[in-house]
Amino acid sequence: MTAIQSLERTAAAPLEAPRIPPPMALLAELTHRCPLACPYCSNPLQLTGLREELTTEEWIRVFAEAAALGILHLHLSGGEPASRRDLVDLTKAAADLGLYTNLITSGVGLTEGRVQQLSDAGLDHVQLSLQGANAAMADHVGGYRGGYERKMAVAEWVRQAGIPLTVNAVCHKQNMDQLDEMLDLAVRLGARRIEIATVQFHGWAERNREALMPTQEQVVRTNATVAAARERLKGVLVIDYVPADHHSTYPKACMGGWGRIGLNVEPSGKVLPCHAASTIPSLRFDNVRERPLADIWYRGDAFNAFRGDAWMQEPCRSCERKHIDFGGCRCQAMALAGDPAATDPVCIRSPLRPMLEAAAASDGAATPGAFVYRTMKPQ
Ligand code: SF4
Ligand code: FES
Repeated sequence: MTAIQSLERTAAAPLEAPRIPPPMALLAELTHRCPLACPYCSNPLQLTGLREELTTEEWIRVFAEAAALGILHLHLSGGEPASRRDLVDLTKAAADLGLYTNLITSGVGLTEGRVQQLSDAGLDHVQLSLQGANAAMADHVGGYRGGYERKMAVAEWVRQAGIPLTVNAVCHKQNMDQLDEMLDLAVRLGARRIEIATVQFHGWAERNREALMPTQEQVVRTNATVAAARERLKGVLVIDYVPADHHSTYPKACMGGWGRIGLNVEPSGKVLPCHAASTIPSLRFDNVRERPLADIWYRGDAFNAFRGDAWMQEPCRSCERKHIDFGGCRCQAMALAGDPAATDPVCIRSPLRPMLEAAAASDGAATPGAFVYRTMKPQ
């Protein structure tokens, strides 16, 4: 074949579908059971009961499929993963498969002995949630008396076991003004990193908007607190920060882009591109009980629904930021625009932005009432 023939062949060939890289991370929601009841929980409103949960063997098969698919990071999450009696066995199986294991926990359900067993099983990292800088705030937000004391103990056991610790702090109207104290506490607990995430308004948080939405002044103060702390704590504590997106100019690249970096497996084995994806009624989700994980990632309908940019509408379609934020969050577009392919209303270019700003200002100014706590009972 001549060079020209070769070029003609290339020109005539159908365009190849863009290559999809393998995912980096799997979030395994081992269970929805949890002693805490945080009013912004990222789990769905309709929670999965014990009887529907994947068995130990099923989870281990999923981990093996994940490792074969090229996944590197396994986040053992929930609900509260320590509610699973087989947590140590699952951790050992994952570590033996070469996965980097990260336990995302409230601490409640862990004992000193269990932390040591997890360490012996090969657990690489612990992320401990912190709902406030003191027992009064933390136990109020978590809806669990004694939770704060247990977290303090767990942090110490994790430190003694030599497992690297990150503190996770979800910030909102009621605890944001304690941020400096939470940063100091993270340092005292021996954490190497803190993740400060402003609450995202899906699911349970959407039901608690007036109790959780910060004011614009709080957001500005928090941004300044984080900037100052990053200077002050350089070399001591790494600070990751997710600012309030209702008060930002552009949306965040939710999940790093749909179907680009990671996937979630729910307790029943349903596989989601993000934790809130079930709020999009047009999507159909596969289950690891019925289809191999690799097939779901590469060929699953839900994963391909918002990959690339062909699904985008204006103004995203012709926007220079479309490969930076991927049009924002699909679940937020669904919740606020009623269309999962719409521009995220957080974006300053969305026609719905004025409505979003007005709602955020009004919820921010509202006096917080009682929380609607997360519960396993049907709502
Ligand atoms: Fe992002 Fe779309 Fe807004 Fe552009 S128009 S900044 S792509 S959300
Ligand atoms: Fe689903 Fe943002 S939470 S895409």
